[in-house]
Amino acid sequence: MRRLLMLLVALAAVLAGAGHARSGETVAVLGTGRVAAALGPQFARLGFQVVYGSRDPTRPAVAELVAATGAGASAAGLAEAVARARYVVVALPWGATEQALAGLDLAGRIVIDPTNALRVGPEGLMEMAVETSAGERIQALAPGARVVKAFNAVGAHVMADPTAAGGAVTIPLVGNDPAAKAEVARLVERMGFETLDLGPIRHARALEAMTLLYMVPYLSGRRDEAFEYHLRRGTAPRQTQGLRPAQ
Ligand SMILES: NC(=O)c1ccc[n+]([C@@H]2O[C@H](COP(=O)([O-])OP(=O)(O)OC[C@H]3O[C@@H](n4cnc5c(N)ncnc54)[C@H](OP(=O)(O)O)[C@@H]3O)[C@@H](O)[C@H]2O)c1
Repeated sequence: MRRLLMLLVALAAVLAGAGHARSGETVAVLGTGRVAAALGPQFARLGFQVVYGSRDPTRPAVAELVAATGAGASAAGLAEAVARARYVVVALPWGATEQALAGLDLAGRIVIDPTNALRVGPEGLMEMAVETSAGERIQALAPGARVVKAFNAVGAHVMADPTAAGGAVTIPLVGNDPAAKAEVARLVERMGFETLDLGPIRHARALEAMTLLYMVPYLSGRRDEAFEYHLRRGTAPRQTQGLRPAQ
């Protein structure tokens, strides 16, 4: 009986671990800029091996980032970094993203996409640069990848240290693969954020529009009015209030 119980406990532990990220797994962080320098160390703290994908992995600045990340981090070219990884973080400028990803084999990888397909418009404010979104374009470019949009509407300083926000911060997630999205949600929560699943990758266009608003205090020179997104769960209206149930 005791043996059976121990077997069941072990089985439950294995099942609980299924689909979860395990320490020691590799995350390829493509790019070595602000977002890479924020999320790389976050992943390292969670026990992941971080490999930065860089156009020039031998640059002294890249070596400094690798050293600051610690925990066995390294740097390589983009293709090699992706080949080693289960997760790929696209910490690249949108203008370089499609060309950079086109040459990579992302099939089966969980691709975390913080990019925004935005440009500065005529009035000095940001506007959408494409009709859909960066998230949708990345998923279309790599149909075998499990793209999860995350972190696109939060500053790198908060990504690096959620406590810098002075309160709770929500990272909304969208993507077509529910299991990948759930896995990313658990990781993001372990980094110190709240998460909210807002549906398929098609909604990446809404998440990227959130960045238009997020940028307003920065672009209008009112940095003291900077804000963070914290989305609180509410209550749905009751049917008696006149709303028809979904068909
Ligand atoms: N900064 C933020 O607070 C923030 C917040 C949310 C989302 N995002 C999004 O996250 C993405 C990365 O932003 P970031 O601020 O980390 O950008 P960044 O500081 O400019 O760094 C981008 C990195 O991408 C690599 N890269 C590859 N091809 C490039 C090219 N053609 N030109 C320039 N760099 C190239 C570079 O690394 P190597 O030189 O090593 O190749 C560079 O360090 C963007 O899409 C941005 O919209 C940024």
